Amino acid sequence: MFERYTDWITEASQFIVKRIPNPPDIAVVLGSGLGPFADELDDAVQLDYGEIPHWPAAAVIGHPGRFVVGQHQGKRVAALAGRVHLYEGHDPQMVTFGVRVLRQLGVNVLVLTNAAGGINTSFSRGALMLVDDHINLMGVNPLAGPNDERVGPRFPDMTEVYSRRLRAIAEEAAAAAGVSLTRGVYLAVVGPSYETPAEIRAFRTLGADAVGMSTVPEALAARHMGMEVLGISCISNMAAGVLPQPLHHDEVMATIARVRGQFTALLRGIIERL
Ligand code: HPA
Repeated sequence: MFERYTDWITEASQFIVKRIPNPPDIAVVLGSGLGPFADELDDAVQLDYGEIPHWPAAAVIGHPGRFVVGQHQGKRVAALAGRVHLYEGHDPQMVTFGVRVLRQLGVNVLVLTNAAGGINTSFSRGALMLVDDHINLMGVNPLAGPNDERVGPRFPDMTEVYSRRLRAIAEEAAAAAGVSLTRGVYLAVVGPSYETPAEIRAFRTLGADAVGMSTVPEALAARHMGMEVLGISCISNMAAGVLPQPLHHDEVMATIARVRGQFTALLRGIIERL
């Protein structure tokens, strides 16, 4: 796959450029339930993932996902509604395919959003968390395999995955929008099973504040290529064992639906300040 991977990225970006001549500067990957943000962009052009050559389809029921490019406050923004996850069985390279294509399109700033379980007991369901750093417990790294030095270094530095500059902008945007924003460390697992209470206690000891099944592969690929990254988690549920109740995907979706307005207000404020 590796030899063809680079060609696939080029074919996908050439296809997109033909359909969307004005390239985006900023991209937002929208986590579960956050897709409606894409509809807020002005003068939007939309492509279904299924139309774009080689683009992996997201397993969102009824929709493979969509790539939308439009404007917000004069900024050219790409919104990816729907992402692929390792737990769907995709290769790590395909999980980061979209981010690779965005880079070829000229995107410099990547905002990654997700739903996550709250490990930090001072968090509550519905809180928004700025990702300060991450812990990769997925057991895979999307940068493993042959490296193309023209794309990025063999051993990329990960001292500041989530840009200090962008985090400061996010905090300013949150304050201006009256949205409360906490911060913490995101720990990534493959899933798809939720964690056990013992795992959550172990992750807390390791220094994690939230746990989820996405974002880290994309952040690693983006940093490999020198993009500036911001991560925002919606604490959709308290992690396993924190509360005396089992976890349900329905709870995750219900929480996101409840805080979607705040989340999109925050995203708008961030984009305006970029
Ligand atoms: N664990 C892992 N991933 C998640 C969770 C969780 O509790 N909530 C939302 N995504």
